[in-house]
Amino acid sequence: MKELLAKPGFLAAHGTFGADLSYLLAVVFTVMFLYAWRLAKKARGTQHHKLIFASMISMLVYFIGYYYARQLGVLALEGIEGFGGPQETYDNVFIPILTTHLILVCLGLILAVYMIFQGFRACDKVDGEYRLQSRELKINPKSFKSVMMTLAGLWAVNQLILTFVRHKSFAAGLAWALIFGVIALVIYLERIIEKALPDGARRHRLLGRTTMVIFAMILATSTLTYLMLYVIYPKA
Ligand code: HEM
Repeated sequence: MKELLAKPGFLAAHGTFGADLSYLLAVVFTVMFLYAWRLAKKARGTQHHKLIFASMISMLVYFIGYYYARQLGVLALEGIEGFGGPQETYDNVFIPILTTHLILVCLGLILAVYMIFQGFRACDKVDGEYRLQSRELKINPKSFKSVMMTLAGLWAVNQLILTFVRHKSFAAGLAWALIFGVIALVIYLERIIEKALPDGARRHRLLGRTTMVIFAMILATSTLTYLMLYVIYPKA
């Protein structure tokens, strides 16, 4: 698999197959999300939801497979390996763009998962079609408590498996704790968001548009990174 990903690419003269495939799929997923936005604008709620769902699942499957095969996260942070331009451009242009890209990817992923749950909560199915409902949308304190307790339970079970069954390192435990921590934080933040934007439909539209703009920015920054690495400043 690693050899296949390292083979010459098909988009730019200096690209690798892995980098080109990754970029092409990033374009496809972003276009799917932006098209889902268009469907929502046309009030086609069910198709909007189905396309978002399909894009999310395919994006996650691809991300997990690809990161597993290539450990792109690590490679990207060591970007100097593939960057053939001047040090000044690397420090002042490439690294800030790459950092912005990675921050947006994290933010976009968190917001997308949040929006899927929020979408279901903010909609009713009327005559087979999902419709946003203009009404106050709040987690009731009992559900909030049980969601947090379930999350804590899942974390504890996962931690026990990591330590006693899989004998993983402290760093692996810490990474998982961070993932569970982020989920808990988002659920907690929802209580603050509820106060600022009590209407579920308005919340969906406002945060949904923010999420879509972030997706478009992710594509713009990955395009710039790709161009700098494989077209403008490839390593000789
Ligand atoms: C990543 C997840 C999601 C994002 C980013 C998102 C984004 C959006 C945006 C931006 C709009 C407003 C369009 C506009 O007026 O500009 C919207 C509307 C809507 N969304 Fe979502 N959405 C997501 C998930 C969902 C889900 C899971 C459902 C249903 C279960 C859903 C149902 C709807 C409906 C019914 C509308 C209203 C369409 C209308 O105006 O009649 N969305 N969404």
